[in-house]
This record gives sequence, C-alpha cells and structure tokens, in this order.
Amino acid sequence: MTEPVVFALPGNEAGAGALCARLPGAAGEIEFRRFPDDETYLRVRSDVRDRRAILVCTLRGPDDKFLPLIYAAATLRDLGAAEVGLVAPYLAYMRQDKRFHDGEAVTSAYFARALSRWIDWLVTVDPHLHRRKSLAEIYSVPASVVHAAPLIAPWIAAEVERPLLIGPDRESEQWVAEVAGGAGAPCVILDKTRRGDRDVSVSLPDVAAWRDHTPVLVDDIISTARTMIATIGRLKELGLGAPVCVGVHGVFAGDARAALAGAGAAEIVTTNTIEGPTSRIDVYAAIADRLRAQAPAAG
Ligand code: R5P
Repeated sequence: MTEPVVFALPGNEAGAGALCARLPGAAGEIEFRRFPDDETYLRVRSDVRDRRAILVCTLRGPDDKFLPLIYAAATLRDLGAAEVGLVAPYLAYMRQDKRFHDGEAVTSAYFARALSRWIDWLVTVDPHLHRRKSLAEIYSVPASVVHAAPLIAPWIAAEVERPLLIGPDRESEQWVAEVAGGAGAPCVILDKTRRGDRDVSVSLPDVAAWRDHTPVLVDDIISTARTMIATIGRLKELGLGAPVCVGVHGVFAGDARAALAGAGAAEIVTTNTIEGPTSRIDVYAAIADRLRAQAPAAG
C-alpha cells in the first residue's frame, strides 16, 4: 500500500504537519467552509483512491467538531480510500462513563458508538479511563493509546528542582507513580471529593517531610482547574511552596487557566494534545512512532 495521506481538520494543521514531517506520508488537501446558513461544505482535493487516509482532529469542544469529522471520513471512503484512521490526541466524552443519576445519558458509550461507525481505527493519548479498563469496552474499532507519562517524566526531571509529585485521586495513583518513577521523584496521592462541576475538595496526607521539595501537581485533564486549585489551597495551609501544575490535556474550561494562575500556580504546563500557551511537552513524535509501528493497519 502506498504511503498514507494525512488530513488536518480545522485547527489541527500544526499536529498534522508534525505527523507528516515524521511519517512517510503526504499532506492531504481538504477544504472546509460554512455555507451561508452555517452548514458545512467540504471538498477533498487529494487523490486518496486505495490509499490510507489519516484524519487529525483533537476533540476538545467535540460538539462542533463531530459533524465535519464524520463528513470528512465519509467523503474519504466515498473517494476510495483503503482505510480511514483518526488521530485524536484528546478524546472527548470520556468522563460521563456511567449513569450517576436516573435518566442521565452515558455519553462516553454513545460517542464511541457514533465515532466507531465512521472510522477504521483510532489513536489517542491517555484517554480518561476511570471506571472502564480499556477503550475496547466502548469503541468497536481498534483503538491505540499513546502514554504521556514517558514524555512528562523527563520534562519534570529536567525543569523542576527536587520535585514532589502529587496525584489528584486514587485512580491516578498508578499513572502518577509511573511519572514519578521516570522523574526519580517521590509521590503522594490525594483523596478527592467532587460535589459538583466546580466544587472539589481534597485531603493531603502528611507532607511535612517534603517541605524542601517543589510540589508538582500532575493530572490527566485540567478542565475547570478546581481540582488543582483546591490542592493549592491545602498546600498553602501545610506550608509548601507554589506548585508546578502539569496536565496531559489542557482543556481549560472558561476562566480555568487564569484562575489556576491566580490561585498560586508557579507554572502551568501541558502537552500539546490541545494546543495552547501551556503546551510545552510534545506528543506528536510519539504518535508518529505509534503510527509507523502500526502501519498499514493501525489497530
Ligand atoms: C478526574 O477524574 C480527572 O482525573 C481530573 O482530576 C479532572 O478531570 C480535573 O477536572 P477539573 O480541572 O475540572 O477539576
């Protein structure tokens, strides 16, 4: 099979370019615009017949991205692509993974079902697997996960003096311990209680022994940032210094980034699964490695 053709959904040009630079692949040309009534117009200008097509679309704010994404996948298939894969460095709708209250939608399952209908495979970075063990429980296409811990650990080791890693909740323990191991740093894990979207409290174990360390809060997602803000409050009470806040996915809902900085974060750092001013740790080289290893069928 010939080399793949990589297409960027709007806003993903940098990520798609980074993949093209590292893959034996060509940049695909795809035009998106809105009709005057706000419906999507899309035209593929590259030849994809019998070729592997890769769509790059990170899914922060998925509701507006989903229709253009499935139109792109459907068009590529109509035009004869041998397969259509999706690189979604941030995978949306992973948090509503059960019915917490009567009548609620279990959107992680519904979104996975809808997306699986249009793509042949998926590559993502650290999806928020909380009550589910693997994406295979909800995605019916092969889904491959790139882990950010080996990318974050060297950044912490190089940039933070005497780091003490702090994980937000028991579910994060294994992951934070891996980052801590890679960075050669100690770690502690919090007990977190979330009462609402922006109402979070945490309890810290005794950290007095680590007063001469730099706290590094590590979480998979920074959304409202209330988890990290609550932790900073506890650290202050315990007399620890201003923490470095590290997230895999910098979702930053509303005023989250400013609120986190205002609460006393010494520094806020994320990967570039969602591009933004805090994106200092690259994931695309690792994604390209994964795609190369999995070619031609990225399952
Ligand atoms: C929850 O289980 C996650 O690991 C994060 O702790 C959570 O998504 C952070 O959300 P927020 O920034 O809104 O507190």
